[in-house]
This record gives sequence, structure tokens and C-alpha cells, in this order.
Amino acid sequence: MAETPDVVQTVQQGYAFEGPAIELGALLVDGTPNTEAAVRIPLSMVNRHGLVAGATGTGKTKTLQLMAEQLSAAGVAVFAADIKGDLSGVSQPGESSEKLLARTRTIGQEWTATGFPTEFYALGGQGAGVPIRATITSFGPVLLSKVLGLNDVQESSLGLIFHYADKQGLTLLDLKDLRAVITHLTSDEGKGDLKELGGLSAATAGVILRSLIGFADQGAEAFFGEPEFDTADLLQQRDGKGVISLLELPNLQDRPALFSTFLMWLLADLFHDLPEVGDVDKPKLVFFFDEAHLLFNDASKAFLDSIAQTVRLIRSKGVGVFFVTQTPKDVPDDVLAQLGSRVQHQLRAHTPNDAKALKATVSTFPNSSYDLGEVLTQLGIGEAVVTVMNEKGAPTPVAWTRLRAPQSLMAPASAEQLTATVAASPNNAKYTEVVDRESAYEKLAAKVQAGAEQAEAEAQAEQPQAEAPKPRAQKQEKSVVQQVIGSSAFKQFARSAGREIVRGLFGAARRKR
Ligand SMILES: Nc1ncnc2c1ncn2[C@@H]1O[C@H](COP(=O)(O)OP(=O)(O)OP(=O)(O)O)[C@@H](O)[C@H]1O
Ligand SMILES: [Mg+2]
Repeated sequence: MAETPDVVQTVQQGYAFEGPAIELGALLVDGTPNTEAAVRIPLSMVNRHGLVAGATGTGKTKTLQLMAEQLSAAGVAVFAADIKGDLSGVSQPGESSEKLLARTRTIGQEWTATGFPTEFYALGGQGAGVPIRATITSFGPVLLSKVLGLNDVQESSLGLIFHYADKQGLTLLDLKDLRAVITHLTSDEGKGDLKELGGLSAATAGVILRSLIGFADQGAEAFFGEPEFDTADLLQQRDGKGVISLLELPNLQDRPALFSTFLMWLLADLFHDLPEVGDVDKPKLVFFFDEAHLLFNDASKAFLDSIAQTVRLIRSKGVGVFFVTQTPKDVPDDVLAQLGSRVQHQLRAHTPNDAKALKATVSTFPNSSYDLGEVLTQLGIGEAVVTVMNEKGAPTPVAWTRLRAPQSLMAPASAEQLTATVAASPNNAKYTEVVDRESAYEKLAAKVQAGAEQAEAEAQAEQPQAEAPKPRAQKQEKSVVQQVIGSSAFKQFARSAGREIVRGLFGAARRKR
């Protein structure tokens, strides 16, 4: 075997950072933990991102849990998607057992049952959690295209529709606003505007409209609208500990595209709002992206580029992103290249496909004295091959590690505990009540209504006269939208809204502050 005493020395030196660190566990040498050789990630490098990978049931979620605990203890806020509900236990003290203590003793971990301050969120309020909603305008066309499964042409067409709505001051808060704008553009009234836009065909607009209708029929209205979630709420501390925000996603399989894009929206929104901080002693927030393959599957080039860009830029805002998925090959190369820390749990090698994934995984690791192809299939549960970025930005030696055990509950919190936490959350009052203020739908509907009444009045007035009707000067007639924008009520609104919409990453709008 490759584990000679040299490995101990190499790991000791390689992981001897000054300053605080996330303690991952102890080096294993011939199956025995060496408590002298601790494997850790410097807190100052957590914003250089990371990857937690491994086959199902090998310990990924527990790794995420133990990292979240230590970050919270260090005052760093944490966001994680709780896909199977098994992370909710982080809010409760863990349960001690002989087996657990045997594990923690051998790796030199002093284990104390501890729960951590936790907030539970649920998309659109569907499930136990404070509702998270986004407005359509801030969600933007790129993310929405991903959710709807639009192709590249349709995606850029949707971009034009957003551009049009932005320019015309037609606020897109919910799905019906967007539908109203598209309906308008494909109506007789809006034809002129459609033409002016250029590059948007009525046929494509129709396809997008139909896909929006289907989306709404599946109950998606609940996810969009106001009050919109303020991602600053993810940055809280309580009694010096970072709050762990968990997005409860028990039914992920029902809407994988929606859920994964929503996570990306949160990240893009944070990016827009947070100030540049450069290098930091510790991050402000660490964002765990579980089941990350869902995000990358079938993604457009624009979408993938936006992810890579977000990940690249958000680090200087003090946010670390950890992707959690089965193999590194689930992550596109230009994102993978930016992930400084790697915790790789066991991989299986049963099928030819497994063998291929294994080989590919090995190729993404720095050189080491291990035969990684062997080691990766031999790792026990709760063990991993680790390499992180040291405080100088260089990769640490690859280390076969037995991970620490979480100090919080390794099982889901009970339904009562969840409900009580949600009820006690200050955010609950802020986000529970849906508001539906005037936006594109109402404005266009009002105009259509007014237009119809006027036409009717004109028709009645004209009736007695036998003269030829006045030729309708199509070109000079203002479109509904132009009328809306010209109206004093609208100008008033635009002034109160007070700023132009700036679209950034993913075409997501920055609208706060
Ligand atoms: N660090 C650890 N300390 C103690 N026990 C652990 C640890 N990691 C994993 N285990 C044990 O292994 C089980 C499976 O771990 P975990 O749920 O983290 O796997 P996973 O990789 O997230 O699986 P899945 O892909 O199914 O989500 C845990 O329930 C726990 O009993
Ligand atoms: Mg898991």
C-alpha cells in the first residue's frame, strides 16, 4: 500500500495552517486514524469553493452537515438545500451512542451534542417552511427558460420579451404578468410592437405562451410574485453563530429544473446585492448546492456560462459555494476548475459506466502517492479522499480521511420541531402573506377594457351618421403599451419605482435598494 509514514508527515505539514479552519477529520493510515494528522480547510479559503462527491449513501450529506455546523459556530451563515429532509436535524442536538463515540474517539474529536440556529424555507410556501418567492422580473429570462425547457431560439425570444417589458415599464411580478405581455404582443393591438422588437416571431411567442400556461397549470404560480425573498435574510447571525438556512425540498423529483434554477437565482441575487470584499478571514456565507447535477443537466450554453461566471465572481463577495453531487464529472470543467476544496467519498465500480466515471474522477485529482482508482472504491462510509486549497492558494496533499461526526441530529427533525421553528421565525410574518400589486397584467387588462369601451362608444356615436367612417390611421395610433406609458398614472408609478432595470447575471434584474 502507498500509506507509508511519509504520508503522515506530508499531511501534517500540508494541513498545518495558522488561523481557524473547518476540521474535516483525521488521516487514515492502513485503516487506522492518525489523530496527529488532521485534515482541514482554512476558513479563509472556503470562498474558493469546493465539491463534495460520492455514490449514494457514502456520507455526502453528513459531510455537508458537519461543515455547516462548524461554519455556524465560527459565525458564518450557511445556506443549503435540504433535499431529503435529513439535514433538518442540524437544528437539534445529536444523539450519542456507543458506536458514535467509538468513531469520534479514534479520530480525536471531542463530541458534544449541539443544535444550531436554523431557518426553514419552502419554495412558494409548499411544505414546512417560510415561503420563498421571486418576481418574474428578477428571476429573469435565462433562468425561466431553463425551467420551461426552452431551446436557444426561444430563450433569446424570451429575452426580447423581458427587454420589451422592462423598456415599457410593464412590471413582471408573476406568471400572469408575463402571459399578459406575450398575449398583448401577439394580439392585433401589439403586432406593431412585436414587429419593432425584431427577432421575435409571433409563432415563437405563441410557443412560449403555451409553455407558460402549462407551467402555471402545474401549480407554478405559487413560486412567483411578491413579497419577494430578500436574500440578505440568508446572512443572519444569532448569538454569534451563523444561521443555517435550509430550503426544504422534499419533492424535488417533481420539479428538478425549477428547484435547481431557484437555487441559482438565490446565488445570482446575492451576487447583485453584496458588496465586493476581496480576500476575507472567513466567508460571509457558504452556499451548499446539493444534487448539483440537476442544475447542469440539459442546460443551455448561456446558462452554463452564467453559472461559471457567478461562481467565479461571487468569491470576492465573501461567498463560498460547495457543489454536492455523485461525481466531479457532473460539473462542467470551467466550474470544476474553480472548486478549490474536494471531499470525494466512495465511488462504485460495478458497471463499465462506473469505471469510466471513476477514471475521470481520478484524473481530476492532483498527483499523490495513492492509487486513487483503488482507494476511491475502498473508502468506508463517512470516509473520503480530500484535497483542499491551502492558505497560500495551493492544493494540499491528497489525504484518505475519516470524517468527523456531526454533533447535531443525523436524522430529520420532527414535524413538530419544524413547525415550531417556522412559527417562531421573524421571517414568517414578512413572507407568508401574498400581495398582488398593480403590474403588467392589471395595466394591460385595464387598457384593453378601456379600449373596448371607447371603441364601443365611438361605434355608437358613429352609428346614426351614414358617412364613410374615418380611415383608421394605423401607424399613428399609439399601441396600448405606449398609451400606458404615456398616461400620467404610469409616469407617476415609474417615478416612484425610481430606477431603470439593470439586468446582470442570468439576465436577473437587480431591483432592491
Ligand atoms: N461523518 C459521519 N459520521 C458518522 N456517520 C456517518 C458519517 N457519514 C456518514 N455516516 C453514516 O452513513 C449514513 C449515510 O450518509 P449520508 O446520508 O451522508 O450519505 P449520502 O452520500 O448523502 O447519501 P445519498 O446520496 O443517499 O443522499 C448516515 O446516515 C450515517 O449513518
Ligand atoms: Mg445525501
